[in-house]
Amino acid sequence: MPALTLRDGVVEVGSAHDDRHLFDALMPTTFGTTYNAYLVVGKTATALIDTVDPEKTEILLGNLKEAGAERIDYLICLHTEQDHSGSVRAVLERWPDAVLVGTKKVAEFMETHNHVPQERFRLVADGDVLDLGGRTLRFIPVPFAHWPDNTMAWLAEDRILFSNDLFGSHYSTGKIFATVGRDQLQAARDYYSEIFMPFVTHVRKYLAKARALDPEMIAPSHGPVWFRPETILGLYEEWLSDDVKPVVVIPFVTMHGSTEVLVERLASRLAEHGVSAVCRDIASKPANLMLETGHMVSDLVDAAALVIASPSVLGDAHPAAVFAAFLAAAMKPKVKYFGLIGSFGWGTRIAETMASHTVGLKAERLEPFLVKGLPTEEELVRLDAYAADLAAKVLAASKKR
Ligand code: FEO
Repeated sequence: MPALTLRDGVVEVGSAHDDRHLFDALMPTTFGTTYNAYLVVGKTATALIDTVDPEKTEILLGNLKEAGAERIDYLICLHTEQDHSGSVRAVLERWPDAVLVGTKKVAEFMETHNHVPQERFRLVADGDVLDLGGRTLRFIPVPFAHWPDNTMAWLAEDRILFSNDLFGSHYSTGKIFATVGRDQLQAARDYYSEIFMPFVTHVRKYLAKARALDPEMIAPSHGPVWFRPETILGLYEEWLSDDVKPVVVIPFVTMHGSTEVLVERLASRLAEHGVSAVCRDIASKPANLMLETGHMVSDLVDAAALVIASPSVLGDAHPAAVFAAFLAAAMKPKVKYFGLIGSFGWGTRIAETMASHTVGLKAERLEPFLVKGLPTEEELVRLDAYAADLAAKVLAASKKR
């Protein structure tokens, strides 16, 4: 990705990472990602906002050269996760007089994660302004947007909000501005689901802060810049609301087909009642576990219910289903109902163990639907009643405003 100009004197100098397939060793990045860094040139000083993943340091340095950055007066760190701070040392080696700027928490974390001494920082707090000469950057800490140190910066004269991870997307492109294509919106949703869904109470406040600024552009640290901010602000409002859609997410594991019979019956009956079932086979191929559970998290952004389908293995759920349950609970989705279905061979404690694996999930628990061996016709008829009851609950929940 070359240096890309947002405005005269405001240039994106970061790097694309097209072939990154997984982030945080957890989240599938179907569309790759970018690490955005922004050069802001004032009349008296030049600032670089964030850096890039250490793997891409040379691209950053090359782009800074291409952008004509002869000097960097301020290196601003909005967040110390290494995909943004990993090239700070290299930038400081090239521009040793650059003043590091960040909040107290950023400075503390930079020492922890990158061994850059805290004393190296000029500390800024909420509302502090850095004057670049005709351009100013105001700092807006947004703690626990996902890390305690997340910070935004507001370039008032250009009405550009540098939002760091907030409003980002793992979406690699050679273009600077966001499109509203399906893939890019999906990437933004995926990103929201993994990074921000566990912190909705905080993120709601930060969304309001962003809205109050009325930005002309939102420039995040991943993916393209939103040059029509309403697109992403409106989506965040929807995702952060309590509203759910008539969707049931069903991650499933099947060893010999019996649990799959239950999944297929449940999904088809839900559909007959006007409820969508998103079934994800999380274990039949080795890569499915990471990919399909990652997609499951994104499915859960606005689904009304989660039903985990699993056979029993040594009395507990299948380990892949345990992983899905743990992940779903950790991400704190707004699902209103949680169910468990499955087949067991001769005995099971799956109802008790899955309850403990999903303690963090704030959803009404449905009575587990468990059968011994291959489901009988009589059991499938009972499952039809389970589906009708669940569909009624889901439809009622999705109509509530
Ligand atoms: Fe993109 Fe929290 O780092």
